[in-house]
Amino acid sequence: MPLIHFAGETVSCSRSDNLRSVLMRHTPAMKGKLYNSVSGLTHCRGLGTCGTCAVEVQGEVTPMTKIEKWRLGFPPHHLDAGLRLACQVCVLGDLVVTKHSGMWGQRFGE
Ligand code: FES
Repeated sequence: MPLIHFAGETVSCSRSDNLRSVLMRHTPAMKGKLYNSVSGLTHCRGLGTCGTCAVEVQGEVTPMTKIEKWRLGFPPHHLDAGLRLACQVCVLGDLVVTKHSGMWGQRFGE
């Protein structure tokens, strides 16, 4: 079972689990770190449209979806920032996940 390291904690999940779902259903510390500021209340709940679940992911995950490419392709995101939308990612192996600052967790302009 893959291990997910995030926000100083480690949880296990099944291969192919959705990353956002894994982070949201585990400890309050993880859930509370996925979204920054008021985006914790205003996010799109996993539709891939708001971009606020953006995280840096190290490890094996599924390729970018069409909607993920679309949303990460305009500000404040940049496709070359190396971020992924947790709601569009399925876990394929052990991961180290990092949330950056900013309303969208964008990497640049922090
Ligand atoms: S929750 Fe809105 S893009 Fe992922």
